[in-house]
Amino acid sequence: MKEEVLRLLRNNNGKCLSGEEISSCLNISRTAVWKHVQNLKKAGYLIEARHGKGYCLLKIPDVLYPEEIKNGLKTVILGKKIYYKNEMPSTQALAQKLADNGSAEGTLVITEHQKKGKGRLGRAWVGPPGKGLWFSIILRPGISPIAAPRLTIVAALAVALAIERVTGLRAGIKWPNDLLLRGKKVCGILTDMKAEQDLLEYIVVGIGINVNLSSEDFPPELRHKATSLKEELGVEVSRIKLLQRSVEEMERLYQSYLNKGFSYIRRLWMKWNVTLGCEVDIKESGRSYSGKALRLEEDGALLVDCADGKQRKFYAGDINLRS
Ligand code: BTN
Repeated sequence: MKEEVLRLLRNNNGKCLSGEEISSCLNISRTAVWKHVQNLKKAGYLIEARHGKGYCLLKIPDVLYPEEIKNGLKTVILGKKIYYKNEMPSTQALAQKLADNGSAEGTLVITEHQKKGKGRLGRAWVGPPGKGLWFSIILRPGISPIAAPRLTIVAALAVALAIERVTGLRAGIKWPNDLLLRGKKVCGILTDMKAEQDLLEYIVVGIGINVNLSSEDFPPELRHKATSLKEELGVEVSRIKLLQRSVEEMERLYQSYLNKGFSYIRRLWMKWNVTLGCEVDIKESGRSYSGKALRLEEDGALLVDCADGKQRKFYAGDINLRS
């Protein structure tokens, strides 16, 4: 019912709606209306009660409530089911558990405060409260596990496009899945999958975007290599808008990949990547390689012309750009 009260106030476009109108519309008492309004205020909505006129919704908080995410989200599959909690250890861990228990494709798990965020290669991921986007999406693409790296490419591209749409900033994609602004990391992506023989049962794509963090929000050892959209722009960015656009771009590119293949994604990625042509150091399965990044392969792998004269394909790994 609280959501219904909010819907009425929102649809009234900043004009006042009397308690009586709300109560008769929803068939609840005026005291109940008052209680719901108090709860909405507690949740961060700025609602003014004007004498003789009623309630007026003046400001919506930038809090990741499912009803705010769904309001204006133009997708058919992704984000139709949302799990939101103010804090949780890791959206990735919860999404994997949900996927194991059969949660539908497109399920979105999101939190304000991720207390034990997982990064790639066993690292931790910093997710302070109310400042970033820390979320995971369950996908069930019905493809072979060897095609999974392509979905990392799809996700990185989707977030890069969304960042540009919302902020005008053009992030570069460092293979496989980091987004950089002025050489500093603004977004990281982690994929976990479960597969049986030749078929992916599910893949969970976990995305962390440093939206409104200040440099003090990062641990000192990360400050020289991590940044946020707010740090780069000088103003705060709406997390809800950025999340909606990211999920929409993700759905569009994901569908395009599934229906038309990887070529379009690969061509688009070429325009956004900052990896090809660079001298790189790559660590994969405990071994280190150096060489020149040559090409993104059709399967999502990176082809590197290594210093020992051999060309090698990398499917995952930790990469450092030298030039
Ligand atoms: C990386 O190391 O670059 C990947 C970072 C991925 C972080 C995101 S935040 C949401 C999701 N939940 C997690 O625990 N990790 C991912």
